[in-house]
Amino acid sequence: LLVCDTPDAPLLQHGNYTQMFQNLFQEPLESFDVTKNEYPQKEYDSYIITGSRYSAYEDVEWIHKLKQFVRDLDKKGAKIVGICFGHQIVAEALGGKVSKNPGGWEIGWTRLKLNDDGKRVFGREWLDIQEMHQDHVSVVPPGFTVLGATAICPVQVMQKSNIVTLQGHPEFKHEFVKQLISIRTNKGIFTEDQQDRA
Ligand SMILES: *[C@@H]1O[C@H](CO)[C@@H](O)[C@H](O)[C@H]1NC(C)=O
Repeated sequence: LLVCDTPDAPLLQHGNYTQMFQNLFQEPLESFDVTKNEYPQKEYDSYIITGSRYSAYEDVEWIHKLKQFVRDLDKKGAKIVGICFGHQIVAEALGGKVSKNPGGWEIGWTRLKLNDDGKRVFGREWLDIQEMHQDHVSVVPPGFTVLGATAICPVQVMQKSNIVTLQGHPEFKHEFVKQLISIRTNKGIFTEDQQDRA
């Protein structure tokens, strides 16, 4: 697990990213805080890249380093799962582009529609998932197939042979999202109306 952020103190009662993903998979994961330049010293079959409050296009050293790590992993054919910021980092690293969504924030419980490719992969018509993003993948990297979309975010899920990435957060629990939205509403990042709808 390549951890790209740590939730603020009041949210840590729900666990940090390592704990949230361990809860999701119901098994221990080895985790590395890539914001502190911690990287695995051995090779793994598969890697998960977490969400983050940072933007994938920021000119920050650890973000550049993570993109290079993704390119190296991809050359070796390692399996990668990217979540939110992780989805966006994969896009930026492998020749796509990330930008601020002109459609604005997408937050809370959201139904995304799978296209025919997505239906084949997931074996269902849609995914219900927690969203928490303003940036989105605006250019799909070469070789990737888009699997699902929402009204304001056309690239919700993308995939190629060894990689699958999601804009939404399968690891976020309802109570975590509720508190995060409330904190951000108090700070004026989200309006009351956005909070109610989410
Ligand atoms: C997450 O929390 C656990 C338990 O407190 C701690 O051992 C671990 O170092 C934390 N991981 C990160 C990446 O912050």
